[in-house]
Amino acid sequence: MLGSPSGDDPGHGRVVVRRCTQADVSAREAAEPPRRGYARGAFARQEAGSVDFLVALVDGVPLGSGELTRDDPPELKNLGVEPAARGRGVGTALIRAAESLVADRCSAAGVGECALVVGVGLDNPRAAALYERLGYQRTGAFSTTTYSYVDAAGATQTATERDEELIKRW
Ligand SMILES: CC(C)(COP(=O)(O)OP(=O)(O)OC[C@H]1O[C@@H](n2cnc3c(N)ncnc32)[C@H](O)[C@@H]1OP(=O)(O)O)[C@@H](O)C(=O)NCCC(=O)NCCS
Repeated sequence: MLGSPSGDDPGHGRVVVRRCTQADVSAREAAEPPRRGYARGAFARQEAGSVDFLVALVDGVPLGSGELTRDDPPELKNLGVEPAARGRGVGTALIRAAESLVADRCSAAGVGECALVVGVGLDNPRAAALYERLGYQRTGAFSTTTYSYVDAAGATQTATERDEELIKRW
């Protein structure tokens, strides 16, 4: 377990963050639109060693996830929480768990300074506000990404997103 339980408020539940298991993939896939295959793909990236696929469970149910890359510095990608579970600390628990994994790796490698990078869409000021509140700083480095995804109806869509890189060092 990477993140400690964050409270037992009945309205908010108990949040635990861990590396994704095969059982978590099945549970996440059941909630995905047909053909999306995101959880399976992220789990395959974890199995291949390129990321840690972190899942947040609320009262045992996986409701959010993020991928921590093995890059230098590492990046937290594809952070997402189920719409009905947002605003209850699940995203914060995932970010904290990623930071804790990075800190463990820094100390194991004898590295004095840790850093974690995130890319935030310019059209996503609430996510940027969350990261800034947690100590991430804007870098002024922008990138444009075009990607395909499967929407809620199961149709493949293409989107282009402009992101700014934020970084936290400690
Ligand atoms: C951004 C996201 C991961 C945050 O997770 P979360 O569990 O809602 O976050 P927390 O409860 O720990 O923190 C709440 C804060 O998250 C931010 N936030 C961003 N989008 C939000 C949303 N749709 N609902 C609630 N909070 C959101 C806000 O700063 C909020 O603080 P506020 O209530 O004071 O405005 C989640 O809202 C989400 O999945 N959004 C859609 C995908 C996305 O934007 N991913 C981020 C890519 S960088």
